Amino acid sequence: MPSIMPIYGTRPEAIKMAPIVLALQGSPLFDCIVTVTGQHRAMLDQVNDLFNITPDHDLDILQPGQSLSAIMTRTIDGLEKLFAHTRPDAVVVQGDTTTSTAAAIAAFYHGIPVVHVEAGLRSGDMLSPFPEEANRKITSQIASLHLAPTRTSKANLLAENVPAADIVVTGNTVIDALLTTVTKEVPFGDPRLEALAADGRKILLVTTHRRENQGEAMRGVGRALARIADAEPDLVIVLPIHMNPVVRDAVLPFVKGKANVLVSEPLAYGEFTRMLSLAHIVLTDSGGVQEEAPSLGKPVLVMRENTERPEAVKAGTVTLIGTNEDKIVAEVDRLLHDRAHFDSMATAVNPYGDGKAAGRTVAALAQLLGVGSRIGEFDGG
Ligand code: UD1
Ligand code: UDP
Repeated sequence: MPSIMPIYGTRPEAIKMAPIVLALQGSPLFDCIVTVTGQHRAMLDQVNDLFNITPDHDLDILQPGQSLSAIMTRTIDGLEKLFAHTRPDAVVVQGDTTTSTAAAIAAFYHGIPVVHVEAGLRSGDMLSPFPEEANRKITSQIASLHLAPTRTSKANLLAENVPAADIVVTGNTVIDALLTTVTKEVPFGDPRLEALAADGRKILLVTTHRRENQGEAMRGVGRALARIADAEPDLVIVLPIHMNPVVRDAVLPFVKGKANVLVSEPLAYGEFTRMLSLAHIVLTDSGGVQEEAPSLGKPVLVMRENTERPEAVKAGTVTLIGTNEDKIVAEVDRLLHDRAHFDSMATAVNPYGDGKAAGRTVAALAQLLGVGSRIGEFDGG
């Protein structure tokens, strides 16, 4: 039986890999060997616990304040040692983190085929998002099978001369994860959030972490949140803050003591998707949240200058607003007070997936390893 090794290390990879791991574990065709790098320790474990996934191997690489080079070298070194005694028939990596590219390089050096999930996303700017745009382009150069979430991402790969036969449009597995989780009405661990869910006040849900926004841009986000909180006493800003101390130091001083800003630790995925479904507006620089919120019909303001996820922008549910403080305040104000504008953005769209991406992924893996054939592609995006 061929063995497949999914390798992942951060929260978003874990969420998007979970449906694939569960499908592989349920398939009689494969032996699934789950390997994590631990690039994120707590935020990764939180997701594995939710999906009942116990890794077979854990490189445990996290160091506080870790550099990109440390993530890269510690992952490659750990996998070098692992591949010496456990050699899978294929490695599966997801997205554009440094874990995913380091794992792809380590597998490539060992002659192990690399399967890239969420392949073909491109912002067109090597410095934004940094280092993710470079990471995903490097992985595209060495992958044997490219699982593109949408037709747009497939077109990006074709434009870079990736052979069409090596690309399958699967949809994004984040929609599989979302659809199985959001329906469960998971209780909030934080009683303040449970009270908020009951009282019906409007919620502005905010996440921020992007490396290229750290520093002055992120302080501007903090200042903008403080101004919105002061101007809109009936609104509650929910801010599940990333564990990165650089992010916390930039944003939290501005919102400290504001009664209508509810800062929490990162929410477990089930709680976060419930909060997404309760939110009135979403303000974020996250990749995954840009994909999930449109599916729930939530207007999304993206604090970036560009995006590798243009589909929901085209559909009208996502607006790119950058990180200018005045612009953030103005765009939130407009969504709160211009009903027609809000309604035009609050339309549920699903350009990123139909909840069946993991099944298409497993079928594509079966074809790659000669034990099955592909199934029909996702027809969106
Ligand atoms: C990483 C990814 C980014 C992804 C993001 C998702 C890279 C280069 N970046 O960025 O693509 O969008 O994850 O959140 O791969 N920390 C903890 N515990 C945790 C997680 C983080 O303490 O569970 C702290 C550590 O101090 C760490 C810092 O957060 O040094 C930053 O984590 P890191 O993985 O280096 O970068 P992210 O900004 O999270
Ligand atoms: N998420 C979560 N808890 C939180 C914030 C986000 O589970 O408190 C989930 C969210 O639903 C999405 C993913 O984390 O699926 C996005 O991760 P992140 O924004 O850290 O990374 P990105 O997607 O930008 O790489």
